[in-house]
Amino acid sequence: MLLALVLCLSVHLAYSINNTASPFLNSLHQRKQMLCELGCKCPETGQILTFLDCSRRGISNLPTSLLIDSTFNSLSFKSNHLESLKVNTFTRADEVQELDFSLNMIAKIDNYTFAPFMSLVHLRLSHNRLSQVTPGMLNGLWNLRLLELGHNFIERISFQSFQVTPNLQELRLQYNPLFNLPENVFRYLHHLEKLDLKDTGLVLLPDNVFRPTPRLHWLSLAMNAFENVPEEALSHAPHLEILDLSENDFTILVEGAFRRLSSVSVLYLNNLKKLTRIEREALAGLEKLKTFSCSYNPKLSYIDENAFGSIHSNISKPRTPPREMLYLRQNALRTLKSPLDAKSWSSLSFVDLADNPWKCDCKLNWMMQLTKETKVNIKCDTPLSLRSRTFDSIDSSELHCNGNWAIATFALVVACMVAFAAVMLAVSAVVCSRTPVGLYVRAKQQFSYDKVQPKTETVDLEWDPSADM
Ligand SMILES: *[C@@H]1O[C@H](CO)[C@@H](O)[C@H](O)[C@H]1NC(C)=O
Repeated sequence: MLLALVLCLSVHLAYSINNTASPFLNSLHQRKQMLCELGCKCPETGQILTFLDCSRRGISNLPTSLLIDSTFNSLSFKSNHLESLKVNTFTRADEVQELDFSLNMIAKIDNYTFAPFMSLVHLRLSHNRLSQVTPGMLNGLWNLRLLELGHNFIERISFQSFQVTPNLQELRLQYNPLFNLPENVFRYLHHLEKLDLKDTGLVLLPDNVFRPTPRLHWLSLAMNAFENVPEEALSHAPHLEILDLSENDFTILVEGAFRRLSSVSVLYLNNLKKLTRIEREALAGLEKLKTFSCSYNPKLSYIDENAFGSIHSNISKPRTPPREMLYLRQNALRTLKSPLDAKSWSSLSFVDLADNPWKCDCKLNWMMQLTKETKVNIKCDTPLSLRSRTFDSIDSSELHCNGNWAIATFALVVACMVAFAAVMLAVSAVVCSRTPVGLYVRAKQQFSYDKVQPKTETVDLEWDPSADM
C-alpha cells in the first residue's frame, strides 16, 4: 500500500518536472493556474486529483481556452452563478468523463461548447434556466451516456439535438414545461434506456414516440395530467420494466388499460388524487408484474376482484397478479374482494394494506390467510365493536355480516320495489289512456252510460247534403 503510494508520487513528480521543461506544458500549467485562481480546489504539489472541484465558488464568468489536465476525469462547476457557456471556454478536456454544471443560471449554451469533451459520459445541466434544447448544443458528445436537464425551463426540444449523441442511455427532463412531445423527438436515441418525464405538463403521448427507442426500460411519467394510460404509446416499448404513473389524473382504470404492457415488472400508481375505481381486467396483461404499488390514493374505494384478469379474460389468458410485492396502503378501501387467489397471496414477499378504513365483516374473511406481519397493519375502522383492532387480533368468528342490517336492507329494497311498481302503474295508466287501445277502452266505458246515447239530430245532420257545401 505504502509502496504503491510512493510509486504514485514519484511518477507524478517526474511528470511535473517534465511539465516545467516544455514550454507547451508550461502554458498548460498556467491554464491550470487560471482554474486555481477561480477558486477551484487544485491539487497540491505531489498530489494527483481525478476530480477538479470548482463548485460553490461564486463563479459568474469562465475564462476562455481552458485546458483540463488529463489526470482529471471529473469536473464540477456546480452551484455557481454562470449564465451562459461560450464556445471558446474549453480547448482541451480529452479525459473528462463527468461534467457538472448543475445549479447555475445557464440560459444559453453555444454550439460546440462541449466539443473538447471527447470522452464525456455524464453531463449534468439540471437546475438551470435553459428554455430549449437546440441543435448544435450537444455537438461533439458522441460518447455521452447520461444527460441531465431536469429543473430547467425547457419548452422545446429539437430532435436534431440528439443526432450527435446516439449513445445516450439516460435522459432526464423532469420538471420542465414541455406540455407536449413531438412524435419524432427521440428519433436518434436508439440506445435510450431511462427516461424521466416527471412533471413536464404532459396530457398525452404521441402513439409512435417510443418506436425509435426499443431498449427503453425505465420511464417516469409521474406528476403529469394524463387522464388515460397512454397504452398505445407504451406498447411500443417492448422492454419497459419500470413504469411510474403516479400523480396523474386518472379517475377510473378501465378494462385493458395495461393490456399490452407485458414487460412491465414494477408499476407505480401512487398519489392519484382522482382515482376512484380499478375495474375488472384493468390490470390484465401485465404478465411480468412483480411489484404493484398503488398507495396514497385518497378516493380509491373499489378494486375489482378480477382487476388482474380472470380465467375467462379476453385480454390475457392467465391472470396477472403481482408476484413479489403488493402495496395498497392508505387508500379509501372499506372492503375488498380478494383480487388474488390463495396461491398468489402466499407467493408474495410483501403485502401492505395498512391505513385503509376497513370495514371488518365477513367479506374480509379471506384476509385471515395473510401473514401476521401484514395483518398487524390492517386496522378496522368499522364496526364500532372492532374499531382500531388489528386484524391479527381478530378471530374469524368476529367477522360477521350483521343480520339486522341485512333485514333492514331487505325491507328497504322491498319498499323501493313497491314504490317503483306504484309509479310504473301510474305512468302506464296515463300513457295507456293516450294510446289507441286506451282511447278505445275509455270510449267503451263512456258508451256504457245511458246518458251518452247518440242523439238522432246529430246523425241526421251528418247526412244533411247541405253540410257538404
Ligand atoms: C447551431 O447549430 C445548428 C445546427 O447544428 C444550426 O442550425 C444553428 O444555426 C447553429 N447556431 C448558431 C448560433 O450558429
